[in-house]
Amino acid sequence: MAAIPFTRLFGTAGRRAIESIAPRRTFDDVILPPATRRALDTALAQVTQHDLIFNRWGLGERHPTGLALAFNFAGPPGTGKTICAEAIAHSLGRRLLLVRYAELESLWMGETPKNVAGIFRTARDERAVLLFDEADAIAARRSTSVDYGFQRESNTVVSVLLQELEWYNGVVIFATNLAANFDPAFERRIRTHVLFEMPGAAEREQIWRVQIHPTRTPLAADVDFGALARRHEVSGGDIRNAVLKAALAAAAEPATDTARRIHQRHFEAGIEDVIAGKRVMRQSLFDEEPAARDANVVARAADLRASRLLAYAVSAAGAALIVAVIALAVALLK
Ligand SMILES: Nc1ncnc2c1ncn2[C@@H]1O[C@H](COP(=O)(O)OP(=O)(O)O)[C@@H](O)[C@H]1O
Ligand SMILES: [Mg+2]
Repeated sequence: MAAIPFTRLFGTAGRRAIESIAPRRTFDDVILPPATRRALDTALAQVTQHDLIFNRWGLGERHPTGLALAFNFAGPPGTGKTICAEAIAHSLGRRLLLVRYAELESLWMGETPKNVAGIFRTARDERAVLLFDEADAIAARRSTSVDYGFQRESNTVVSVLLQELEWYNGVVIFATNLAANFDPAFERRIRTHVLFEMPGAAEREQIWRVQIHPTRTPLAADVDFGALARRHEVSGGDIRNAVLKAALAAAAEPATDTARRIHQRHFEAGIEDVIAGKRVMRQSLFDEEPAARDANVVARAADLRASRLLAYAVSAAGAALIVAVIALAVALLK
């Protein structure tokens, strides 16, 4: 695959790999479980002080290295990591430079150092808050075996990224799905881990509410967000998708514009649909033929399978050893 120039990765429309966003959503749009909220408040206090000291008080110019303020937002998909990064940028009055890491990695192929440098340069020029979204691959431990090209590539990404981070004095947020298995060098650069938990029933009810417009969305009298929240243990992202489905379904029903309303049954159907869709996704992830994917992913899957096999073999050998030792002990005692 030919390398794609940095500027082509950059865009403001659609789901581009890199996007520069003028943040609109604030912390009022985010409903979080109390523990997540507290961790985020701590992070925000650090950001605000950092901004004051190094930008407004000018100390950033005196002390140019080792100042980046890096956070890890860890949690399941759809728990609000991306919107919280947007809200942080909003509260600082900065743009958000959103890098969809998973999409970039497969496009780069050998151009990585240049492109990582390009991202940091852009963030510096825009004085943006930098978000590496879907960044699990960055955070993961650098692999020591470099048999595959892609492993060498992602090792390079992490090394280059750590170097760039050293010379950057802004706020960088990594959003990851798993908190485990961090590369130690990377871990050292992270100031605070914020754990994004799945919302409880009370939070879910509020999330349902913030997903509709407070005055303009036409709701039928039978709508009961409390019931929806209690019945379906889903993420904020799922609720968002369900609300959009419900609105589409209601709008498609034959009626005059003023008579059309979103009913409880629309919301119910919407969330059922989202849940069913996720089930299908999970299944196809495991059933999919490797041939359907690109070589890169296949190589990874093979690698993963190989290491899983090895893990099984090692545990089987371990179990056999334990049994042997017990047998020996029993034989000796007799
Ligand atoms: N805690 C939340 N409060 C309000 N809305 C949420 C929350 N979590 C997710 N959402 C909704 O779901 C959408 C996707 O969430 P996102 O921030 O991208 O989740 P993540 O980055 O954790 O996958 C958001 O744009 C928002 O509409
Ligand atoms: Mg996200």
